[in-house]
Amino acid sequence: MAIQKLRIGDFRLAYQIHGSGPHHILWIHGYPLNADMWRPQVDAPPHIATHITPDLRGFGQSDGPAPPYHIDDFADDLIALLDHLQIQNPILAGLSMGGYIAFAFLRKYPHRASALILADTHPNTDPTEIHRARLQTAAKVHRTGIAPVVNPMLEKLLTPESLDNKPLVYTVRKIAERSSPNGIAGALHAMARRPDSNPTLQSLTIPTQIIVGEHDTITPPSLAQQMHNQIPNNLSTLTTIPQSAHLPNLENPQPFNQSITTFLNSL
Ligand code: MLT
Repeated sequence: MAIQKLRIGDFRLAYQIHGSGPHHILWIHGYPLNADMWRPQVDAPPHIATHITPDLRGFGQSDGPAPPYHIDDFADDLIALLDHLQIQNPILAGLSMGGYIAFAFLRKYPHRASALILADTHPNTDPTEIHRARLQTAAKVHRTGIAPVVNPMLEKLLTPESLDNKPLVYTVRKIAERSSPNGIAGALHAMARRPDSNPTLQSLTIPTQIIVGEHDTITPPSLAQQMHNQIPNNLSTLTTIPQSAHLPNLENPQPFNQSITTFLNSL
């Protein structure tokens, strides 16, 4: 389906709907990316899900209101979209920053999700030096443009083998380059100031699928295991995706999609 736009306050949020299956999945992209990162998921058979893929404020084809943003702003935008689409309880699927936003969503709107998919993310706040570096980058991105932010990120997102895969690198670069300076600065502020989500994880009451790329260095498998250990009542399943780093849904989509299908079938 074509890109659609929803006016929220003073900006327009871009989103797409793919498929028409019985499960609604709200895919929340990572930083500095956009909804196009979910292409291998929304195009994959079997079509047992309806996929909702927003571009978060400041990313992709959404407008970028002036920063700073709070992590809750992203959650509020997603609730506005769900209300507009009259979807009550989707499955939330967040990768990395998308996971941080999923935690914020669950804190603010605890009854608006039926299940959770956490990919390459973690519940902790930033260590001091990362917090500081994010705020420094946010302060200068309007002057430098986004290239000095995006270029070093690419190497961290992908395995060395994925970095040799020219079409994949091209795709990720193209996605990242659609980020606006407002979006980059706003998201950096939001991530730097996000609260501790460990209590959110420990009070989860919905089935949760945790996924992590085997070679992820940003949110390594040990953090995924810690999340799995903290979620009560055997509500979580952990799947490690081989031959991938921080973007397993793009680097090795077949096992990533299989884990999603298995999870949906278990609900
Ligand atoms: C992301 O992929 O969303 C970011 O790497 C998250 C972060 O910088 O903490």
